[in-house]
Amino acid sequence: MSRILHIEDDAGSRLLVRKVLAAAGHEVLDAASGLEGVRLAKTSQPDLVIVDLNIPDLDGYEVALRLRGTDSLAAVPIVAITAEGDRETSLAVGCDGFIEKPIDVRSFPAQIQRFLGGHKERPSQTGDLPLRAASHRIVERLEHKVEDLVEANARLEEVARLRREFLRNLSHEISTPMTPAVGYLKLLLNEELGPLTAMQRKALVAVDAGVSRFRGLIDTLLDVSALETGRLHFFARDYDFAKMAKRAIDEAKPRLVDKQVTLHVTPATGPTPAYGDPDKVRRAMSHLLDNAIKFTPKGGTVAVRATSRAGSDGSAETLVFEVADSGPGVPESHQEKILEVFFQADGSVTRQYGGVGLGLAFARRVAEAHGGRVQIESPPRDPWTAAELASTPLTGTLVRLELEVRPTLPAPPTDG
Ligand SMILES: Nc1ncnc2c1ncn2[C@@H]1O[C@H](COP(=O)(O)OP(=O)(O)OP(=O)(O)O)[C@@H](O)[C@H]1O
Ligand SMILES: [Mg+2]
Repeated sequence: MSRILHIEDDAGSRLLVRKVLAAAGHEVLDAASGLEGVRLAKTSQPDLVIVDLNIPDLDGYEVALRLRGTDSLAAVPIVAITAEGDRETSLAVGCDGFIEKPIDVRSFPAQIQRFLGGHKERPSQTGDLPLRAASHRIVERLEHKVEDLVEANARLEEVARLRREFLRNLSHEISTPMTPAVGYLKLLLNEELGPLTAMQRKALVAVDAGVSRFRGLIDTLLDVSALETGRLHFFARDYDFAKMAKRAIDEAKPRLVDKQVTLHVTPATGPTPAYGDPDKVRRAMSHLLDNAIKFTPKGGTVAVRATSRAGSDGSAETLVFEVADSGPGVPESHQEKILEVFFQADGSVTRQYGGVGLGLAFARRVAEAHGGRVQIESPPRDPWTAAELASTPLTGTLVRLELEVRPTLPAPPTDG
């Protein structure tokens, strides 16, 4: 019994060959396109390959050339089978035999058996003319493919550019009319435009809450557009890293209470002087906390630690902000992707958590601008969580924000 790979796009022909060869005692694998055929040939190491010359993506001549160029397949018999292909070209590119369609089911197994036994057809033409003709055709096809790809790529880039511009315009357009609304609300609530009745105040407080929420959304949109266009502005100054961490944690506390999530904080040992954009750093920290609280089920645990540590090789100090949780974790295959804008591990319409997939992309940009990075560990490897919290193991996700103490921040963009 031999293992025979049959590469053919027509399902009827595949079935016929399979039946005939299986009846003769062979194992038949099949592939419906040139690329799939090459892949399967490499992984299944067949004893013989039958290839139709007229198949999608790589055609039969190209498949033969490709297989001949692969060390493990260089000696495998290849039989071209076709209604309209060219025998001389087939042999020139490395086929050992050429069978015309339709196949004769009675003699076909014997024909194949001969090739399995080492039979090779001889080309009637000598010299490199057929090979050159084949190469010429292949290069021509390649040229068209490359042209198609360049065109498709240009279209994709255009779509990406339009999307970025749309986001940018949209976020600016909706933030502008909000400015007077926010201003007047403040004047009204401060009774600078006259005294308020209790009912009026209640109404205004409700409006104010809605407006705040809306402004949060606009800020997110502005961040997205800044991230997408690589135009996130950084405003650098001296600040206290430990203080920023404390502020981010304090801001997150009400949400912890809502969800009955227990918070363990390992406080910084003292002030941690640093240089950078403290507002962005704090917001990056908030996004980490936000995720931990959001994805941890009711009654779960979140642990936070803000530290600084010296590089092991004596290199400069690194600021570290870590958040670990007892949530569902992030599968290995998604750990890189969730750092990209808009990527959410659960991208389904029925997903149960809110958000637009921006938090970690934002945190990563901020970390990178500060000479650092964001790392994901799921489940967390770091022993501090286990040692300090033996009672509530944090088996979900650990997200670590690392920053240089005195980074050189990116220069502000020069236009728009
Ligand atoms: N602590 C975590 N536990 C489990 N999954 C997480 C955690 N943090 C992030 N993820 C996964 O990574 C995805 C991306 O997170 P990211 O913060 O960037 O966006 P988001 O939280 O979905 O939306 P946004 O932050 O814009 O409100 C999340 O949708 C989630 O699938
Ligand atoms: Mg988030």
